[in-house]
Amino acid sequence: MSAPKKLFVKTYGCQMNVYDSERMIETMGQVGYETTETPETADMILLNTCHIREKAAEKIYSELGRFKRLKSDNPHLKIAVAGCVAQAEGVEIMQRQPMVDMVVGPQSYHRLAALEKASGNGKRVVDIDFPEEDKFDQLGARPKAKRAPSAFLTVQEGCDKFCAFCVVPYTRGSESSRPVERILNEARDLVERGVREITLLGQNVNAYHGIGSKGQETSLAALIWELDKLDGLERIRFTTSHPNDMNEDLIEAHGNCTKLMPYLHLPVQSGSDRILKRMNRSHTAQSYMDLIDKIRQARPDILISGDFIVGFPEEMEEDFDATMDLIRRVEYGQAYSFKYSIRPGTPAAERNQLDEGVKTERLYRLQNLIAEQQKSLQDSMVGRNLPVLLEKSTRFEGQLVGKSEYLHAVHVNAPKTMIGTIQHVRITQSNRNSLTGKIC
Ligand code: 5AD
Ligand code: SF4
Repeated sequence: MSAPKKLFVKTYGCQMNVYDSERMIETMGQVGYETTETPETADMILLNTCHIREKAAEKIYSELGRFKRLKSDNPHLKIAVAGCVAQAEGVEIMQRQPMVDMVVGPQSYHRLAALEKASGNGKRVVDIDFPEEDKFDQLGARPKAKRAPSAFLTVQEGCDKFCAFCVVPYTRGSESSRPVERILNEARDLVERGVREITLLGQNVNAYHGIGSKGQETSLAALIWELDKLDGLERIRFTTSHPNDMNEDLIEAHGNCTKLMPYLHLPVQSGSDRILKRMNRSHTAQSYMDLIDKIRQARPDILISGDFIVGFPEEMEEDFDATMDLIRRVEYGQAYSFKYSIRPGTPAAERNQLDEGVKTERLYRLQNLIAEQQKSLQDSMVGRNLPVLLEKSTRFEGQLVGKSEYLHAVHVNAPKTMIGTIQHVRITQSNRNSLTGKIC
């Protein structure tokens, strides 16, 4: 048998990309590749890229520049660019970077092994189609290797919302949902391999409407109730949601499904109705607030997380004030916030842009407010007795880290045999980004 070939993978961006990278590693494992931590020792380098941040493509080009020497030292080295930058700029990447052998869009990962075989010796391949079939199903049976206690599972991809600032509808294509049975099979397999918590992923996950076993359209809530029946699966989460797809049955599941964790990432982007309209968000600040109230009625302790964009074209001081007001009313436990930045090809890219200094100053104020809210919620956990799913060892001997139901990282002294179990932990201390506690 020949020695395994080495695959170096670098993943950018969201959890969906982390999940996709894992699937690609498994696919390549079936054709004799194993992973390596260093590009210098690799036979193949795979960059799984993200297009959502500014200058994403430029960063990929400069990363590729660093691999030039490796390619000249080892002409057999294969370099692949996957993910959303590949989808958006596949042909241009090939033209600008002659050392790239493969460009693979997010819908073509099941063909990666075939592409790898077809490339090399000067042959270069681009696969950025949007095929109809379920790519995840084609990635092959996975060996029953043990997995970490918490795993991602992609259930939905793409987006039809076309927010004026966002590239996702262009790079990931229109919304599509995987069939229920395929998701349940994958979930069963994960549980057999030691997974206790599954986070369902989708760009617009609560728009999920997969086909059920009897051909019926199934909502995300109905899928969650199916997963709830799986013995051994203890916790269910989902991300990312759009306010307009937050249906009654999903809100009800937050009240009644004990495996569904009290955490909801529900981006609002802005608190100004004028800006929300210009963003093409099709909700208002008030409709978002009403939704939050309803969700809190169903599950009073739920931790709300959000995304914000400051300095969207035409945002005035009073629009920004409306965003700050909304934040004060909601009280976020967690949030991601960004200065608006241009994504070529999206409607907002063509509009009058704000001064960079104004954006920076607004972002600073917004992040301070969120940080205060986040810290006060985290501090309120001290003295409480919380169930924690212990996930892994830390660099301190005898210490494990896990997650509370609210997704706070919790450090405890505990034996490694407790990894993968849920323990009741009395929280003793609130740190900068984590909690510390003692097993009860
Ligand atoms: N500029 C700034 N932030 C953006 N996001 C998406 N596109 C842009 C952009 N052009 C943010 C949104 C989204 C998150 C994933 O990234 O807040 O919810
Ligand atoms: Fe992008 Fe989310 Fe808007 Fe879809 S709903 S266009 S993924 S920001």
